Amino acid sequence: MRPAIIFGTRPEIIKLSPVVRALLERSVEPLIVHTGQHYDYEMSEVFLEELELPPIDYHLEVGSGTQGEQTGKAMIEIENVLMKEKPDVTIVQGDTNTVLAGALASVKLLIPVAHVEAGLRSFDRTMPEEINRILTDHASEVLFAPTEEAKRNLEREGITENVYVVGNTIVDAVLQNSEIAEKKSNILERLGLKEKEYILVTAHRKENVDNPNMLKKLVEILEALPITLVYPVHPRTEKRLKAFGLWERLEKAEHVILTKPLAYLDFLKLERNAKIIMTDSGGIQEEAIILNVPCLTLRYNTERPETLKAGGNVLVGLEKERALAYVERLLSDSEFYEKMASASNPFGDGKAGERIAEILLDLYTKGALKVKS
Ligand code: UD1
Ligand code: UDP
Repeated sequence: MRPAIIFGTRPEIIKLSPVVRALLERSVEPLIVHTGQHYDYEMSEVFLEELELPPIDYHLEVGSGTQGEQTGKAMIEIENVLMKEKPDVTIVQGDTNTVLAGALASVKLLIPVAHVEAGLRSFDRTMPEEINRILTDHASEVLFAPTEEAKRNLEREGITENVYVVGNTIVDAVLQNSEIAEKKSNILERLGLKEKEYILVTAHRKENVDNPNMLKKLVEILEALPITLVYPVHPRTEKRLKAFGLWERLEKAEHVILTKPLAYLDFLKLERNAKIIMTDSGGIQEEAIILNVPCLTLRYNTERPETLKAGGNVLVGLEKERALAYVERLLSDSEFYEKMASASNPFGDGKAGERIAEILLDLYTKGALKVKS
Protein backbone atom coordinates (compact mmCIF):
# COMPACT_ATOMS: atom_id res chain seq x y z
CA MET A 1 0.00 0.00 0.00
CA ARG A 2 1.26 3.49 -0.85
CA PRO A 3 -0.67 6.21 0.93
CA ALA A 4 -0.19 9.94 0.40
CA ILE A 5 -0.19 11.96 3.59
CA ILE A 6 -1.16 15.57 2.97
CA PHE A 7 -0.67 18.26 5.60
CA GLY A 8 -0.03 21.98 5.68
CA THR A 9 -0.43 23.46 9.16
CA ARG A 10 1.00 23.07 12.66
CA PRO A 11 -1.79 20.93 14.14
CA GLU A 12 -1.91 18.61 11.12
CA ILE A 13 1.82 17.90 11.35
CA ILE A 14 1.50 17.15 15.07
CA LYS A 15 -1.62 14.99 14.78
CA LEU A 16 -0.46 13.05 11.72
CA SER A 17 2.97 12.27 13.15
CA PRO A 18 1.65 9.19 15.05
CA VAL A 19 0.04 7.92 11.83
CA VAL A 20 3.30 8.31 9.90
CA ARG A 21 5.13 6.53 12.70
CA ALA A 22 2.63 3.64 12.75
CA LEU A 23 2.78 3.24 8.97
CA LEU A 24 6.59 3.18 8.96
CA GLU A 25 6.57 0.56 11.74
CA ARG A 26 4.50 -1.59 9.36
CA SER A 27 6.96 -1.04 6.49
CA VAL A 28 4.56 1.28 4.66
CA GLU A 29 6.37 4.32 3.30
CA PRO A 30 3.93 7.17 2.78
CA LEU A 31 4.37 9.86 0.18
CA ILE A 32 4.53 13.07 2.20
CA VAL A 33 3.05 16.26 0.77
CA HIS A 34 3.26 19.63 2.58
CA THR A 35 1.02 22.31 1.08
CA GLY A 36 2.95 25.13 2.80
CA GLN A 37 -0.23 26.69 4.24
CA HIS A 38 1.99 27.33 7.28
CA TYR A 39 5.50 28.32 6.26
CA ASP A 40 7.28 30.18 9.08
CA TYR A 41 9.99 28.04 10.69
CA GLU A 42 8.20 28.04 14.05
CA MET A 43 4.82 27.10 12.48
CA SER A 44 6.08 24.18 10.39
CA GLU A 45 9.73 23.10 10.07
CA VAL A 46 10.33 22.98 13.81
CA PHE A 47 7.65 20.27 14.15
CA LEU A 48 9.02 18.23 11.25
CA GLU A 49 12.37 18.24 13.03
CA GLU A 50 11.17 17.59 16.59
CA LEU A 51 8.74 14.87 15.62
CA GLU A 52 11.40 13.27 13.40
CA LEU A 53 9.20 13.01 10.35
CA PRO A 54 10.73 11.63 7.15
CA PRO A 55 11.72 14.15 4.47
CA ILE A 56 8.88 15.90 2.64
CA ASP A 57 8.46 14.51 -0.89
CA TYR A 58 6.60 17.53 -2.24
CA HIS A 59 6.64 21.03 -0.83
CA LEU A 60 3.84 22.92 -2.59
CA GLU A 61 4.47 26.41 -1.19
CA VAL A 62 0.82 27.44 -1.35
CA GLY A 63 1.20 30.05 1.43
CA SER A 64 -1.45 32.47 2.67
CA GLY A 65 -4.43 33.99 0.87
CA THR A 66 -8.19 34.39 0.97
CA GLN A 67 -10.22 31.26 1.67
CA GLY A 68 -10.84 30.56 -2.01
CA GLU A 69 -7.37 31.51 -3.16
CA GLN A 70 -5.61 29.32 -0.61
CA THR A 71 -7.93 26.33 -1.10
CA GLY A 72 -7.86 26.69 -4.88
CA LYS A 73 -4.07 26.96 -5.12
CA ALA A 74 -3.67 23.96 -2.84
CA MET A 75 -6.11 21.93 -4.97
CA ILE A 76 -4.25 22.68 -8.18
CA GLU A 77 -0.89 21.75 -6.70
CA ILE A 78 -2.16 18.64 -4.92
CA GLU A 79 -3.88 17.43 -8.07
CA ASN A 80 -0.59 17.64 -9.98
CA VAL A 81 1.16 15.51 -7.38
CA LEU A 82 -1.64 12.94 -7.15
CA MET A 83 -1.87 12.58 -10.95
CA LYS A 84 1.86 11.91 -11.10
CA GLU A 85 2.20 9.65 -8.04
CA LYS A 86 -1.15 7.79 -8.11
CA PRO A 87 -1.20 6.78 -4.42
CA ASP A 88 -3.65 4.10 -3.21
CA VAL A 89 -5.23 6.40 -0.63
CA THR A 90 -4.93 10.01 0.51
CA ILE A 91 -4.80 10.67 4.25
CA VAL A 92 -5.84 14.07 5.59
CA GLN A 93 -6.41 15.21 9.17
CA GLY A 94 -8.67 17.84 10.68
CA ASP A 95 -10.43 20.83 9.16
CA THR A 96 -8.08 23.28 7.49
CA ASN A 97 -8.17 24.55 3.92
CA THR A 98 -5.36 22.09 3.15
CA VAL A 99 -7.64 19.23 4.25
CA LEU A 100 -10.54 20.27 2.02
CA ALA A 101 -8.22 20.85 -0.95
CA GLY A 102 -6.59 17.45 -0.46
CA ALA A 103 -9.92 15.65 -0.15
CA LEU A 104 -11.50 17.29 -3.21
CA ALA A 105 -8.46 16.91 -5.45
CA SER A 106 -8.13 13.27 -4.44
CA VAL A 107 -11.70 12.02 -4.68
CA LYS A 108 -12.13 13.61 -8.10
CA LEU A 109 -9.18 11.55 -9.31
CA LEU A 110 -10.95 8.51 -7.80
CA ILE A 111 -8.26 8.14 -5.18
CA PRO A 112 -10.05 7.30 -1.90
CA VAL A 113 -9.71 9.72 0.98
CA ALA A 114 -9.19 8.67 4.59
CA HIS A 115 -10.18 11.46 6.99
CA VAL A 116 -8.54 11.42 10.39
CA GLU A 117 -10.59 13.27 13.05
CA ALA A 118 -13.83 12.88 11.10
CA GLY A 119 -17.26 13.82 12.41
CA LEU A 120 -16.43 16.90 14.50
CA ARG A 121 -19.13 19.55 14.32
CA SER A 122 -19.46 22.98 15.94
CA PHE A 123 -22.82 23.45 14.17
CA ASP A 124 -21.60 26.96 13.29
CA ARG A 125 -21.36 27.30 9.54
CA THR A 126 -19.81 30.77 9.77
CA MET A 127 -16.52 29.06 10.68
CA PRO A 128 -14.41 28.14 7.64
CA GLU A 129 -13.36 25.01 9.52
CA GLU A 130 -16.97 23.77 9.86
CA ILE A 131 -17.45 23.95 6.09
CA ASN A 132 -14.14 22.12 5.59
CA ARG A 133 -15.16 19.40 8.07
CA ILE A 134 -18.56 18.75 6.51
CA LEU A 135 -17.32 18.70 2.91
CA THR A 136 -14.29 16.59 3.69
CA ASP A 137 -16.34 14.00 5.55
CA HIS A 138 -18.74 13.74 2.63
CA ALA A 139 -15.85 13.33 0.15
CA SER A 140 -14.15 10.64 2.26
CA GLU A 141 -14.28 6.89 1.85
CA VAL A 142 -12.81 5.97 5.23
CA LEU A 143 -13.68 8.02 8.31
CA PHE A 144 -11.64 7.85 11.49
CA ALA A 145 -13.87 9.35 14.16
CA PRO A 146 -12.16 10.16 17.47
CA THR A 147 -15.25 9.50 19.64
CA GLU A 148 -18.71 7.90 19.55
CA GLU A 149 -20.17 11.42 19.52
CA ALA A 150 -18.28 12.21 16.30
CA LYS A 151 -19.57 8.95 14.82
CA ARG A 152 -23.13 9.98 15.71
CA ASN A 153 -22.64 13.31 13.93
CA LEU A 154 -21.67 11.40 10.79
CA GLU A 155 -24.66 9.06 11.14
CA ARG A 156 -27.00 12.07 11.32
CA GLU A 157 -25.64 13.15 7.93
CA GLY A 158 -26.11 9.66 6.46
CA ILE A 159 -22.45 8.62 6.62
CA THR A 160 -22.43 5.11 8.05
CA GLU A 161 -20.01 3.03 5.99
CA ASN A 162 -16.33 2.65 6.84
CA VAL A 163 -16.63 4.76 9.99
CA TYR A 164 -14.15 3.68 12.69
CA VAL A 165 -13.96 5.10 16.20
CA VAL A 166 -10.23 5.03 16.89
CA GLY A 167 -9.59 7.82 19.41
CA ASN A 168 -7.76 11.03 18.59
CA THR A 169 -4.13 10.89 17.46
CA ILE A 170 -3.44 13.89 19.70
CA VAL A 171 -3.38 11.49 22.66
CA ASP A 172 -0.68 9.47 20.87
CA ALA A 173 1.29 12.66 20.21
CA VAL A 174 1.01 13.84 23.81
CA LEU A 175 1.96 10.45 25.27
CA GLN A 176 4.85 10.08 22.82
CA ASN A 177 6.24 13.53 23.61
CA SER A 178 5.32 14.84 27.04
CA GLU A 179 7.90 12.84 29.04
CA ILE A 180 10.58 13.91 26.56
CA ALA A 181 9.32 17.49 26.93
CA GLU A 182 9.56 17.34 30.73
CA LYS A 183 13.20 16.22 30.49
CA LYS A 184 14.43 18.23 27.52
CA SER A 185 12.62 21.56 27.59
CA ASN A 186 13.93 24.40 29.75
CA ILE A 187 11.12 26.77 28.78
CA LEU A 188 10.07 27.49 32.38
CA GLU A 189 13.58 28.66 33.23
CA ARG A 190 13.85 30.61 29.97
CA LEU A 191 10.66 32.53 30.66
CA GLY A 192 11.19 32.79 34.43
CA LEU A 193 8.01 30.81 35.23
CA LYS A 194 7.17 28.58 38.18
CA GLU A 195 5.12 25.39 37.93
CA LYS A 196 1.38 25.97 38.37
CA GLU A 197 1.84 29.71 38.89
CA TYR A 198 0.82 30.99 35.47
CA ILE A 199 -2.00 30.85 32.92
CA LEU A 200 -1.17 29.69 29.40
CA VAL A 201 -3.09 31.55 26.69
CA THR A 202 -3.46 31.03 22.96
CA ALA A 203 -5.89 32.60 20.49
CA HIS A 204 -5.85 32.61 16.71
CA ARG A 205 -9.41 31.80 15.59
CA LYS A 206 -10.51 34.04 12.68
CA GLU A 207 -13.75 35.06 14.40
CA ASN A 208 -11.83 36.19 17.50
CA VAL A 209 -8.83 37.95 16.02
CA ASP A 210 -9.87 39.40 12.65
CA ASN A 211 -12.59 41.56 14.19
CA PRO A 212 -11.14 44.53 16.15
CA ASN A 213 -14.00 44.55 18.66
CA MET A 214 -13.55 40.89 19.49
CA LEU A 215 -9.77 41.19 19.68
CA LYS A 216 -10.13 44.19 22.01
CA LYS A 217 -12.36 42.08 24.27
CA LEU A 218 -9.65 39.42 24.38
CA VAL A 219 -7.01 41.99 25.28
CA GLU A 220 -9.24 43.36 28.05
CA ILE A 221 -9.62 39.88 29.56
CA LEU A 222 -5.89 39.28 29.45
CA GLU A 223 -5.09 42.68 30.99
CA ALA A 224 -7.42 41.87 33.90
CA LEU A 225 -6.05 38.40 34.74
CA PRO A 226 -4.81 38.27 38.33
CA ILE A 227 -1.69 36.14 37.76
CA THR A 228 1.15 35.87 35.25
CA LEU A 229 0.12 34.76 31.81
CA VAL A 230 2.23 33.48 28.98
CA TYR A 231 0.94 33.86 25.45
CA PRO A 232 2.76 32.36 22.44
CA VAL A 233 1.21 34.46 19.70
CA HIS A 234 0.09 32.91 16.39
CA PRO A 235 1.35 35.00 13.40
CA ARG A 236 -2.22 35.79 12.34
CA THR A 237 -2.93 37.27 15.76
CA GLU A 238 0.38 39.14 15.97
CA LYS A 239 -0.44 40.89 12.67
CA ARG A 240 -3.95 41.80 13.86
CA LEU A 241 -2.83 42.98 17.32
CA LYS A 242 -0.30 45.26 15.66
CA ALA A 243 -2.73 46.49 12.98
CA PHE A 244 -5.42 47.33 15.56
CA GLY A 245 -2.96 49.09 17.91
CA LEU A 246 -3.43 46.49 20.67
CA TRP A 247 0.01 44.88 20.76
CA GLU A 248 1.58 47.67 22.86
CA ARG A 249 -1.18 47.36 25.44
CA LEU A 250 -0.32 43.73 26.05
CA GLU A 251 3.42 44.42 25.95
CA LYS A 252 3.00 47.08 28.64
CA ALA A 253 1.08 44.82 31.06
CA GLU A 254 3.61 43.56 33.61
CA HIS A 255 1.99 40.18 34.18
CA VAL A 256 1.89 39.38 30.44
CA ILE A 257 4.67 37.44 28.69
CA LEU A 258 4.35 37.43 24.92
CA THR A 259 6.42 34.96 22.89
CA LYS A 260 6.72 33.73 19.32
CA PRO A 261 4.89 30.44 18.60
CA LEU A 262 6.77 27.71 20.45
CA ALA A 263 8.17 24.34 19.42
CA TYR A 264 6.08 21.34 20.47
CA LEU A 265 8.22 20.14 23.38
CA ASP A 266 8.38 23.62 24.89
CA PHE A 267 4.67 24.10 24.39
CA LEU A 268 3.76 20.73 25.92
CA LYS A 269 5.89 21.55 28.94
CA LEU A 270 4.16 24.92 29.32
CA GLU A 271 0.74 23.24 29.03
CA ARG A 272 1.48 20.52 31.56
CA ASN A 273 2.79 22.96 34.15
CA ALA A 274 0.15 25.66 33.65
CA LYS A 275 -2.39 26.33 36.40
CA ILE A 276 -5.09 27.10 33.81
CA ILE A 277 -5.20 27.10 30.02
CA MET A 278 -7.25 29.72 28.17
CA THR A 279 -7.54 29.09 24.45
CA ASP A 280 -9.62 29.15 21.29
CA SER A 281 -7.59 26.32 19.75
CA GLY A 282 -9.15 22.95 19.00
CA GLY A 283 -6.06 20.87 19.69
CA ILE A 284 -5.24 22.71 22.90
CA GLN A 285 -8.73 22.04 24.33
CA GLU A 286 -7.90 18.36 23.77
CA GLU A 287 -4.38 18.52 25.19
CA ALA A 288 -5.59 20.36 28.31
CA ILE A 289 -7.92 17.54 29.34
CA ILE A 290 -5.32 14.90 28.46
CA LEU A 291 -2.79 16.71 30.68
CA ASN A 292 -5.31 17.37 33.49
CA VAL A 293 -5.17 21.15 33.27
CA PRO A 294 -8.49 23.05 33.58
CA CYS A 295 -9.37 24.75 30.29
CA LEU A 296 -11.40 27.91 29.72
CA THR A 297 -12.31 28.13 26.05
CA LEU A 298 -12.44 31.60 24.52
CA ARG A 299 -15.32 30.68 22.20
CA TYR A 300 -19.11 30.42 22.23
CA ASN A 301 -19.23 26.88 20.82
CA THR A 302 -16.90 23.94 20.41
CA GLU A 303 -16.63 20.94 18.13
CA ARG A 304 -15.10 19.15 21.14
CA PRO A 305 -18.24 18.95 23.37
CA GLU A 306 -16.82 15.80 24.98
CA THR A 307 -14.46 18.03 26.98
CA LEU A 308 -17.41 20.05 28.35
CA LYS A 309 -19.35 16.92 29.30
CA ALA A 310 -16.31 15.40 30.99
CA GLY A 311 -16.03 18.59 33.08
CA GLY A 312 -12.52 19.65 32.09
CA ASN A 313 -13.47 22.57 29.85
CA VAL A 314 -15.85 25.53 30.07
CA LEU A 315 -16.90 27.89 27.28
CA VAL A 316 -16.34 31.46 28.45
CA GLY A 317 -16.40 33.18 25.07
CA LEU A 318 -14.88 36.64 25.17
CA GLU A 319 -17.07 37.61 28.13
CA LYS A 320 -14.75 39.32 30.60
CA GLU A 321 -16.90 38.86 33.71
CA ARG A 322 -17.56 35.20 33.01
CA ALA A 323 -13.92 34.47 32.18
CA LEU A 324 -12.62 36.28 35.27
CA ALA A 325 -15.20 34.61 37.52
CA TYR A 326 -13.96 31.18 36.42
CA VAL A 327 -10.32 32.17 36.84
CA GLU A 328 -10.97 33.53 40.35
CA ARG A 329 -12.88 30.39 41.32
CA LEU A 330 -10.18 28.08 39.96
CA LEU A 331 -7.56 30.02 41.91
CA SER A 332 -9.48 30.14 45.19
CA ASP A 333 -11.60 26.97 45.36
CA SER A 334 -9.32 23.93 45.41
CA GLU A 335 -12.20 21.46 45.33
CA PHE A 336 -13.55 23.07 42.17
CA TYR A 337 -10.05 23.15 40.70
CA GLU A 338 -9.45 19.46 41.40
CA LYS A 339 -12.79 18.53 39.90
CA MET A 340 -11.93 20.21 36.61
CA ALA A 341 -8.35 18.97 36.63
CA SER A 342 -9.39 15.36 37.19
CA ALA A 343 -11.89 15.19 34.32
CA SER A 344 -11.21 12.06 32.35
CA ASN A 345 -9.81 12.21 28.84
CA PRO A 346 -12.50 11.33 26.27
CA PHE A 347 -10.10 10.99 23.33
CA GLY A 348 -8.80 7.46 23.74
CA ASP A 349 -5.74 5.52 24.79
CA GLY A 350 -2.98 6.85 22.54
CA LYS A 351 -3.16 4.02 20.02
CA ALA A 352 -5.21 5.83 17.38
CA GLY A 353 -2.29 5.99 14.93
CA GLU A 354 -1.75 2.22 15.14
CA ARG A 355 -5.46 1.52 14.64
CA ILE A 356 -5.55 3.80 11.61
CA ALA A 357 -2.56 2.06 10.02
CA GLU A 358 -4.01 -1.41 10.72
CA ILE A 359 -7.46 -0.56 9.35
CA LEU A 360 -6.06 0.98 6.17
CA LEU A 361 -3.79 -2.02 5.56
CA ASP A 362 -6.69 -4.38 6.15
CA LEU A 363 -8.99 -2.52 3.73
CA TYR A 364 -6.20 -2.40 1.15
CA THR A 365 -5.49 -6.13 1.46
CA LYS A 366 -9.18 -6.92 0.99
CA GLY A 367 -9.31 -4.71 -2.12
CA ALA A 368 -11.83 -2.47 -0.35
CA LEU A 369 -9.91 0.78 -0.59
CA LYS A 370 -11.76 2.23 -3.56
CA VAL A 371 -14.08 5.13 -4.31
CA LYS A 372 -17.54 3.57 -4.57
CA SER A 373 -19.39 4.08 -7.81
C1 UD1 B 1 -5.34 27.73 9.97
C2 UD1 B 1 -6.65 26.94 9.91
C3 UD1 B 1 -7.19 26.79 11.33
C4 UD1 B 1 -6.17 26.18 12.25
C5 UD1 B 1 -4.87 26.96 12.19
C6 UD1 B 1 -3.82 26.25 12.99
C7 UD1 B 1 -8.02 27.25 7.90
C8 UD1 B 1 -9.27 27.87 7.35
N1 UD1 B 1 -7.66 27.66 9.13
O1 UD1 B 1 -5.64 29.02 10.49
O2 UD1 B 1 -8.33 25.95 11.30
O3 UD1 B 1 -6.68 26.20 13.56
O4 UD1 B 1 -4.43 27.05 10.83
O5 UD1 B 1 -2.83 27.11 13.46
O6 UD1 B 1 -7.41 26.45 7.23
N2 UD1 B 1 0.76 33.34 8.74
C9 UD1 B 1 2.10 33.62 8.84
N3 UD1 B 1 2.98 32.58 8.80
C10 UD1 B 1 2.60 31.28 8.67
C11 UD1 B 1 1.23 31.01 8.56
C12 UD1 B 1 0.33 32.05 8.60
O7 UD1 B 1 2.50 34.78 8.96
O8 UD1 B 1 3.46 30.39 8.65
C13 UD1 B 1 -0.21 34.46 8.82
C14 UD1 B 1 -0.55 35.06 7.46
O9 UD1 B 1 -0.73 36.43 7.64
C15 UD1 B 1 -1.87 34.42 7.13
C16 UD1 B 1 -2.50 34.26 8.50
O10 UD1 B 1 -1.42 33.97 9.38
O11 UD1 B 1 -2.66 35.20 6.28
C17 UD1 B 1 -3.52 33.14 8.57
O12 UD1 B 1 -2.97 31.90 8.12
P1 UD1 B 1 -3.93 30.77 7.54
O13 UD1 B 1 -3.15 29.55 7.24
O14 UD1 B 1 -4.78 31.31 6.44
O15 UD1 B 1 -4.93 30.51 8.72
P2 UD1 B 1 -4.65 30.22 10.26
O16 UD1 B 1 -5.19 31.35 11.05
O17 UD1 B 1 -3.24 29.82 10.48
N1 UDP C 1 1.25 24.34 19.62
C1 UDP C 1 2.64 24.44 19.66
N2 UDP C 1 3.20 25.67 19.88
C2 UDP C 1 2.47 26.79 20.09
C3 UDP C 1 1.04 26.67 20.06
C4 UDP C 1 0.48 25.45 19.80
O1 UDP C 1 3.33 23.44 19.50
O2 UDP C 1 3.03 27.86 20.30
C5 UDP C 1 0.62 23.04 19.34
C6 UDP C 1 -0.34 22.55 20.41
O3 UDP C 1 0.35 21.79 21.37
C7 UDP C 1 -1.35 21.73 19.62
C8 UDP C 1 -1.36 22.39 18.26
O4 UDP C 1 -0.18 23.18 18.18
O5 UDP C 1 -0.93 20.39 19.46
C9 UDP C 1 -2.58 23.26 18.12
O6 UDP C 1 -2.47 24.06 17.00
P1 UDP C 1 -3.35 25.34 16.76
O7 UDP C 1 -3.83 25.87 18.04
O8 UDP C 1 -2.55 26.24 15.88
O9 UDP C 1 -4.54 24.80 15.84
P2 UDP C 1 -5.96 24.13 16.12
O10 UDP C 1 -5.77 22.94 16.97
O11 UDP C 1 -6.84 25.16 16.72
O12 UDP C 1 -6.43 23.79 14.74
